[in-house]
Amino acid sequence: MRNFVYQNTTKIIFGKGTEAEVGEYTKKHGSKVLLHYGGGSIKKYGTYDKVVESLNKAGIEFVELGGVKANPRLDLVKEGIEIIEKEDIDFILAVGGGSVIDSAKAIAVGHYYDGDVWDFFEGKEKIKKALPIGTVLTIPAAGSESSSSCVITKMDGQLKRSINTNLIRPRFAIMNPQITYTLPDYQTAAGAADIMAHIMERYFTNVDNVELTDRLCESALKTIITNTPKVLENNEDYNARAEIMWTGSIAHNNLLDTGRIGDWASHGIEHELSGIYDVAHGAGLAVIFPAWMDYVYQHDLERFAQFAVRVWDVDPDFKDLEWTAEQGIKKLKEFFVSIAMPLTLKELDIPADRLEEMAEKAVQNGPQGNFVKLDKEDVLNIYKSVLE
Ligand code: NZQ
Ligand code: ZN
Repeated sequence: MRNFVYQNTTKIIFGKGTEAEVGEYTKKHGSKVLLHYGGGSIKKYGTYDKVVESLNKAGIEFVELGGVKANPRLDLVKEGIEIIEKEDIDFILAVGGGSVIDSAKAIAVGHYYDGDVWDFFEGKEKIKKALPIGTVLTIPAAGSESSSSCVITKMDGQLKRSINTNLIRPRFAIMNPQITYTLPDYQTAAGAADIMAHIMERYFTNVDNVELTDRLCESALKTIITNTPKVLENNEDYNARAEIMWTGSIAHNNLLDTGRIGDWASHGIEHELSGIYDVAHGAGLAVIFPAWMDYVYQHDLERFAQFAVRVWDVDPDFKDLEWTAEQGIKKLKEFFVSIAMPLTLKELDIPADRLEEMAEKAVQNGPQGNFVKLDKEDVLNIYKSVLE
């Protein structure tokens, strides 16, 4: 196990009806608020009204900025930065999923910077300060509600890039599983795939003696595998929704990679898909992650066999580790198919004509991955392996 420093400062307020408390929590951090949200689901399903009522009750003044798109855009971030300046706002409340929260995080860091906020995403500038943000989470997936990352798309060049700093972890995350009842099945499933990917990125490591975090990863994966079919069967299964929602945060709040080094190639390879073709990030990962596994599993057959046995209950063949390892990957693919996630680029309507460009962009800042280092040729091979 490696040395580590772990601190997660996001306060989690979890459970039924908790969005009604948002005014009180917001009041602790700010006096004038930017209420940031997406394309309308919060208005359609009543969350907006509840949040506004709670803010009003707490006497909090707010200005609204809606319209965050899935795979959030730099343009709206810049609009947000201007509003913050003009309206003298001191807190951002993001009501939505990863896209809304990430947009809020980018506005929060942009506020204290005179140059172009994109400089941070290109690694040209170091983040020193950020406005505080809080969130009412509406979809378990990205884990942004308590993560230190933020992913934004710049349409000019179709670049999807991320920043990472503890300064942008939300001060609080309000998580009511009931709010997730209205998710379309596709978003529920894409969210599950993303949560699993966050765990698997950490699971596939070259660091030895990480027994505790191995076991935590395995149980977190099993929780998603057991509960996702339940919510697809019954959208209003509170307990299953709750298990998924909490796992979504645990998967990406950095607890599971304490003492280890995660891989992250699949995320890097996927971001080129959602950056150019605007696909749901989780659906892109359902295609890329098993393909990555097929490409690298020979690197550590034992770890892949452990994944097969402990996560997927495969009966091991002690004389044939390779076969055992392959069964885990097969089970993962079968699971994605069972929740109607794609396994090929064709299913995402992604043609073959820009694979070279995507592979080039994916390794722009160096090889992808830590478990196995992948260069442009490797990334291209992975894309090609899942064309159809
Ligand atoms: O925009 P609205 O109308 O709200 O609809 C959203 C959106 O269309 C809808 N939705 C959300 N909650 C709903 C709902 N519909 C009905 N009922 C509800 N309760 O779901 C759609 C997807 O929302 P989005 O926020 O895009 O989903 P997600 O949370 O999966 O976020 C994806 C973004 O997060 C980034 C991804 O790359 C992608 O841009 N990620 C962020 C990370 C982070 N900051 O730590 C890590 C991840 O690896 C990921 O890269
Ligand atoms: Zn992700």
